[in-house]
Amino acid sequence: MLDSSDFPPFLLKLLRAARHLVVFTGAGMSAESGVPTFRDAQTGLWAQYDPAELATPEAFRQHPKRVWDWYAWRRELVARARPNPGHRAVAEMERYVPQVTVVTQNVDGLHQDAGSSRVIELHGNLRRIVCSRCRREVPREQWAPAGPEGVPRCPHCGGLLRPDVVWFGESLPGDAWRAAQQAMRTADGVLVVGTSGLVYPAAGLPLEAKAQGAWTVEVNPTPSALSAEMDYVLRGPAGEVLPALVRAAWGDAAGS
Ligand code: APR
Repeated sequence: MLDSSDFPPFLLKLLRAARHLVVFTGAGMSAESGVPTFRDAQTGLWAQYDPAELATPEAFRQHPKRVWDWYAWRRELVARARPNPGHRAVAEMERYVPQVTVVTQNVDGLHQDAGSSRVIELHGNLRRIVCSRCRREVPREQWAPAGPEGVPRCPHCGGLLRPDVVWFGESLPGDAWRAAQQAMRTADGVLVVGTSGLVYPAAGLPLEAKAQGAWTVEVNPTPSALSAEMDYVLRGPAGEVLPALVRAAWGDAAGS
C-alpha cells in the first residue's frame, strides 16, 4: 500500500493549502469499476467496428439501430458498475478542500454515485435519452415504439431517440464548457486522472488552468499526451493512488 513517503512533500503541502481543487477525469477513472475505456469497449461483438463508426452523427443517420444497440449495451454495463475507491477518494476531498470541482469526460455518472456534489459533464451522460430532433429528454416509460429503423421514438415529435452524449464532430454542451473553463480559471490545482489527453477541446482544459497559474498533477499508470506538461506525475491506477493521496495529504483527518 502506498503511504505519504511515496508522494512529493511539496505536493502534499499544495493539496493542504488548496482552496479550489479541480479533478479532471477520463475513462481510466472508471476502468477499475469495470467500465472499459472507449477504445477497450470495442470487444466481442463490437470489435469489428471503429469508434468513428459508432459515435458520430453520420453513423446514427446511416445505421441508427447499430448505434442504438451499442449504447444500450454500454448503458447496461454502466448500470451494473459501482464507483471504485478512486471515485470515493475524489468525493472525500470535499471534506478537506473548500471547493472541489470535478470536470469529467466520462458519461457514466459514477462521480455523482460516489457523492461528488459538483460534477461538470463535458461529454454528456449515457443514462439520459433525448430526442435527436427536438432534443427533449425522454424517460424510459415514455419511449414510443420503434419504427422500421429499430430505434424507439420520441413521444412528442416522432424523432429517433439517442443517448445524450457528445459524438465525434459534435460540439460540447455550451454551459458545461463555460463552467469547466471558469473552474480552470479559479483552480489552485488540477488533478488530471485517467485520460489519454488526446481528445480536444477537453484535453486543453488542464493546460488552460496551468497557464492561469494552477499547479497540475497527473494520475495515470501510463504516460499520456499531457504528461510532459504536468508539474507532478503519479504513476499508478486511480483506485490505488487517489485514496493513498488523500490519506497522505490529510492524514488523521482522513481516518488513517
Ligand atoms: N487509473 C488511471 N488511469 C487509467 C487506468 C486506471 N486504473 N486505466 C487506464 N488508465 C488510463 C490509460 O492509461 C489512458 O491514458 O486512462 C486513459 C484512457 O484513455 P482514453 O480511453 O483515451 O479515454 P479518455 O481520455 O477519457 O478519452 C477522451 O474520447 O473516446 C472519446 O468521448 C470519449 O470521453 C472520451 C474521450
